[in-house]
Amino acid sequence: MNLSFIQPPQVEWASGVLADGPLLRKSTRIQDLAGVFADEPARQQLAGERVVYDVEMLDTSPAEGELYTGVTHLYPGRVGREYFMTRGHFHARREQGEVYFGLRGNGLLLLQTEQGEARLENIFAGSIHIIPGFTAHRLINTGSDVLSALAVWPGVAGHDYMALASGFKLRLFEENQTIQVKEVQNG
Ligand code: PA5
Ligand code: NI
Repeated sequence: MNLSFIQPPQVEWASGVLADGPLLRKSTRIQDLAGVFADEPARQQLAGERVVYDVEMLDTSPAEGELYTGVTHLYPGRVGREYFMTRGHFHARREQGEVYFGLRGNGLLLLQTEQGEARLENIFAGSIHIIPGFTAHRLINTGSDVLSALAVWPGVAGHDYMALASGFKLRLFEENQTIQVKEVQNG
């Protein structure tokens, strides 16, 4: 039988770079993140064009039952003393979960339930994070290298950025070269 072998897309584990798939790419810059960090004047002083994170994903079907695969590259940096982080979101379909796999760098995955209970998981090369349904999620880069994480989530999940537009319960700051967690009232 003369059957050819399909070459699947690949992820280079050490860097998180995706190859050989139909890819979609999105960069999120300082200018896209108004109101996300605690120190808004500090954000405005940074170059608006500076990329905070890049997401690359395989361009696959969003139909019920299908899965998306993507990699987030969150760069090191701070707005004021607050570490660079993703916007963070609940899924529009709240019951839908997601899995994150740490690939490189060091940081935290901030999880928050609809009841406002927040928790933090260490993320590093090899870490596995089961994000249950009804749980908002945000990556925070507390290290000095790029933090890259692979994610797999249902195509129907969607993103709801508005529900936590006023912020998550916890914020992460650098103080005297240590990581400080602050609980905020509006989260
Ligand atoms: O599906 C996910 O949770 C990730 O791919 C995120 O979308 C990605 O990390 C970017 O974060 P956000 O969508 O909160 O800007
Ligand atoms: Ni998600």
